[in-house]
Amino acid sequence: MRAAAIAPSNLALVKYWGKRDSALNVPATGSISVTLDGLSTSTTVDFREDLEADECVLDGVRNGRGAERVTRFLETVRSSFGVERRALVESASDFPAAAGLASSASGFAALALACDAALGLSLSEAQLSALARRGSGSAARSIVGGFAEMRPGEAADGSDAFAVQIAPPERLPLAILAAVTTRARKPVGSTEGMLRTAESSPFYGAWTSSVPRALAEMRAALEAADLERVGMLAEANAMRMHATMLGADPPLLYWNGVTVELVHAVRELRAAGVQAYVTIDAGPQVKVLCEESARAAVREALLAVEGTLEVLEARPGEGARLQDVQG
Ligand code: PMV
Repeated sequence: MRAAAIAPSNLALVKYWGKRDSALNVPATGSISVTLDGLSTSTTVDFREDLEADECVLDGVRNGRGAERVTRFLETVRSSFGVERRALVESASDFPAAAGLASSASGFAALALACDAALGLSLSEAQLSALARRGSGSAARSIVGGFAEMRPGEAADGSDAFAVQIAPPERLPLAILAAVTTRARKPVGSTEGMLRTAESSPFYGAWTSSVPRALAEMRAALEAADLERVGMLAEANAMRMHATMLGADPPLLYWNGVTVELVHAVRELRAAGVQAYVTIDAGPQVKVLCEESARAAVREALLAVEGTLEVLEARPGEGARLQDVQG
């Protein structure tokens, strides 16, 4: 009852920000992402008879921060599939955990797949994606590779809220760079931030009603493999999400000064004829989409901004996969 899986992180091009069911972690709207080859998490799960409580080792730290969320996920697995045993979970990311990039997407996608294999559940890709969603909304998209669309579904039990692949990774040759501006933990996590936004931002309704059109436009841009369109739409969508967050009470400002400087640096690159576009999640790091041939120039421009600590690199890739199964 032991299995290991590896899953990539992903970057939303049309963002998920808001839930229709908090208990089941069902998103209020759809979202579209690109799966990030180069930023992955490997997770082993071992359901053992001799354990009285779940044990969780995340990036070498035993039962530290994040362990409670893993235990909650394991409780969901146990109650959904009639499992009694407690589990030992060991998980490590190949990107710096302190970089403030979402490791929950890759972590829960890997854990969902490892649980499926360890327990012999033989879940379909859609069921796996829906299971990963219980750990983290964005994790549902890391199960499928390439360009993934999360469907919010309509069912009360969330069973039709899962991600599907809408284009293979090779559809759009793309470099993705992430400029790290701080290694500090973000002050407000996504669950709390979404709740606060939905409850207090007067822009929240406008945000959720704008998403279906954004999804349709992004689907069309991906279908046409039009990098300029994909990039402009992704940048506009990220800015709208942040505008909505800023409307919350108290306001959610995830950016720091370096974040703003980086946005300007990318706009300057664009003015100079480089196809490069910005997107930002619930944190101060700046992610840049650009043509593969501009990778080195973009990297240099990001590092030239005072306060950029490091630049991580990725490309569109495949989804979660198994590493080994025993017992
Ligand atoms: O999966 P969560 O709960 O960490 O939420 C992800 C939220 C954003 O990263 C800001 C947007 C997204 O779609 O990934």
